[in-house]
Amino acid sequence: MREKITHYIRAGYAGLYLVSHEEQRVEAELKAIVDALKHRLYAWSATAGLIDTADGTARGAQDPMEVLGLLAELPDDSIVLLRDYHLFLDDPNPLLLRQLKDQLRAGKTKGHTVAVLGCRLQLPPELEREFIIVDFTLPGAEALDEVLKGILKSTGKKQPSPETVAALIDAARGLTTTEAEDAFALSVVECGDLNPAVIAREKAQAVKKNGLLELIETRESLASIGGLDLLKDWLLKRREAFTPRAKEYGLPMPKGVLMLGIPGCGKSLTAKATASVFGVPLLRLDAGRIFAGLVGQSESNLRAVIQTAEAIAPCVLWIDELEKGFAGCRSSGSTDGGTSSRVFGSFISWMQEKRSPVFIVATANDVSQLPPEMLRKGRWDELFFVDLPTRDEREAIWEIQIAKFNRDAESFDLRQLAKVTDSFTGSEIEQVFIEALYRAFEREQEPADLTIGEVLADFVPLSKLMGESMTALRTWAKGRARPATTPPAERSTRRIAA
Ligand SMILES: Nc1ncnc2c1ncn2[C@@H]1O[C@H](COP(=O)(O)OP(=O)(O)OP(=O)(O)O)[C@@H](O)[C@H]1O
Ligand SMILES: [Mg+2]
Repeated sequence: MREKITHYIRAGYAGLYLVSHEEQRVEAELKAIVDALKHRLYAWSATAGLIDTADGTARGAQDPMEVLGLLAELPDDSIVLLRDYHLFLDDPNPLLLRQLKDQLRAGKTKGHTVAVLGCRLQLPPELEREFIIVDFTLPGAEALDEVLKGILKSTGKKQPSPETVAALIDAARGLTTTEAEDAFALSVVECGDLNPAVIAREKAQAVKKNGLLELIETRESLASIGGLDLLKDWLLKRREAFTPRAKEYGLPMPKGVLMLGIPGCGKSLTAKATASVFGVPLLRLDAGRIFAGLVGQSESNLRAVIQTAEAIAPCVLWIDELEKGFAGCRSSGSTDGGTSSRVFGSFISWMQEKRSPVFIVATANDVSQLPPEMLRKGRWDELFFVDLPTRDEREAIWEIQIAKFNRDAESFDLRQLAKVTDSFTGSEIEQVFIEALYRAFEREQEPADLTIGEVLADFVPLSKLMGESMTALRTWAKGRARPATTPPAERSTRRIAA
């Protein structure tokens, strides 16, 4: 980052836009760059006005317009840092825009660089060509190690073992330097020592702050899923895709998988289990919220998501109900001036080009709501279609659900239960068993085949109600998506052949 900014300044770029939540870190970086170049650094804020950082002289000009007027008076090779200036570029005054453009142009001859520092990108179209955008990524392992060293020094704690240091830094990835510093300090206050679990807990809180991402603790593994053999096989084949061995071998980095299908058949469950297959953290993205709020913020929302995911990587990024987030993109921005399509385009290109080990697992129920580009061949490593469970799968699901509620599956006739729950989803099987538990509890009994039978007599499965839309989805998926389960016919042929 330091090198990149140095190059821009030396090449005479008149406008830099630094995007970061970490004011202090960016300012320290900029100061180091300016010192190395032997230039001068002026810093402006609406409260303090313009200050020469070399000697602390204040030049006044708290007004955002007034400060632009002062730029012409500054000596050659001055760098001017404008804090929070993005706030004045949101719906800007035309005079301010003109003045800024004039100053950028005039400053060029004097070797001036104006650096806007803001936590989000906010550039009106008039200025898009005038500024070069520098996105400060979240601190990497090296920077976090520095923060940790600082805390060890200031608290006088002894150096932890290399394993603990690695665990602490791993837990802090995804935090800003200030957040990491706070979390380390909190851990010392709370438990008298540096504890990776405290850092991880603080990170889960920090990640949630913008309302887009959530770090999910999950215990689901492939053993929690009944059936879906092809999907499980496929995931297992990729379990080591992010290891150094895979890299050495030259395996291409997996992009991700999209699971389409009937509601309640285990898509979300599989997404959660994927994180344990890879043995990495699970980040859930609320795609609907990317487009929420102010237009123009959607782009910075997406940047924030990508930055956090890449900092935490290797990780699984789970986008549940993809259609809810990206449905608006079909109408190519009729209501929001094209923002949705732009953000969607950025998302797709990130997916295609990302080099960081972020594995995307997305789920969707309704393909008709998804932009067709999302479904193009090659977009995902694989598109799976999750259908209603087969009889064998239902048997496995019954077994898993019964055991989940601490009952002995062996005391039930699983074969029969699978038979009488034809066209039930996994989620419905769970509901039926829960209802049976309630009925048995009321009678001070244990649930049995009989209680389940009673519940079934009153139960109408979803597939009976939405048969048509299921058929439509199945028809769509045929030839376009891979089945998540080996078709029963194929399985019996295989068995005969064997
Ligand atoms: N194949 C399965 N094996 C075991 N349990 C299952 C299976 N499918 C569904 N379930 C049960 O049903 C619950 C709901 O399933 P899940 O949330 O994965 O469905 P989904 O396919 O994501 O549905 P939706 O499209 O409505 O989001 C799970 O938490 C699990 O208890
Ligand atoms: Mg789901």
